[in-house]
Amino acid sequence: MSARAEYIVEMKGISKRFGGVQALKNVDLELRYGEIMGIVGDNGAGKSTLMKILAGAYVADEGKIYVDGREVHIRNPLDAARLGIGMIYQDLALFNNLDVARNIFVGREYTRGPFGILLDKKRMYRRAEELIRELRVDIGSPQFNVAMMSGGQRQMVACARAVAFQTRILIMDEPTAALGVREASRLLSLIRDLRDRGISILLITQRIPDVLAIADRVFVLKGGQRQDVMEVSKVTLDDVVTMIVKGKERGGNGDAQVEYKSFG
Ligand SMILES: Nc1ncnc2c1ncn2[C@@H]1O[C@H](COP(=O)(O)OP(=O)(O)OP(=O)(O)O)[C@@H](O)[C@H]1O
Ligand SMILES: [Mg+2]
Repeated sequence: MSARAEYIVEMKGISKRFGGVQALKNVDLELRYGEIMGIVGDNGAGKSTLMKILAGAYVADEGKIYVDGREVHIRNPLDAARLGIGMIYQDLALFNNLDVARNIFVGREYTRGPFGILLDKKRMYRRAEELIRELRVDIGSPQFNVAMMSGGQRQMVACARAVAFQTRILIMDEPTAALGVREASRLLSLIRDLRDRGISILLITQRIPDVLAIADRVFVLKGGQRQDVMEVSKVTLDDVVTMIVKGKERGGNGDAQVEYKSFG
């Protein structure tokens, strides 16, 4: 076997324009195997756009993407899924008329019978049951209707789906944004578990304390440009906030004046 690539994902020189808006300008991103990388930046910084390009929801105007060191062409979400890349979107879309198990497998149902035309419900419910147990998530039973679930439980269903389909690179867009303190902390510990199962995670969030709690590194975007990538163990909340607000010109060196001291 040849030596493993240094990064599971590399994005190089990514640019994207929407009409008159330059959403991303020549952005490079490197994700290590098995790390959680926080993606932070102000509203409109380009976080979702960058991740949607990796997930195949948008195609970049310029730039290249490498997975396991090999260049890939991601033209749509199916291309991304084939590479093991999954994204849980900000406006998390589950099917309210379907239960937990059916949501986990929707679009990629297990089938049986000649020509695989029958849904293998038994197998889907059994697997969903296993996933719930394995991930130790409190989403009750595979038969529960997701319409009745809290935001945190819905995120957990989406995580179970990612595990069911052997996602290797999981992108989450503001998963804790709408959650209360207790639910957010449960979800963060699930994200940590997913990382421990070997999934590499890109976590978009405005909640810097979440990043400091679970991420290995933090990637800062501002005005569509990469500012810095920092080791979480080596930075404070102020360092991250300063980089978000002022960018690398001001925040990167020790003599920058930090005016923004408190957070939240
Ligand atoms: N589909 C689109 N059509 C037009 N403009 C877009 C589209 N998607 C994003 N943009 C613009 O691109 C820029 C970056 O947006 P993006 O959603 O990536 O930012 P973000 O960092 O995710 O912000 P937020 O924290 O508010 O989610 C913004 O100026 C936004 O208005
Ligand atoms: Mg966004």
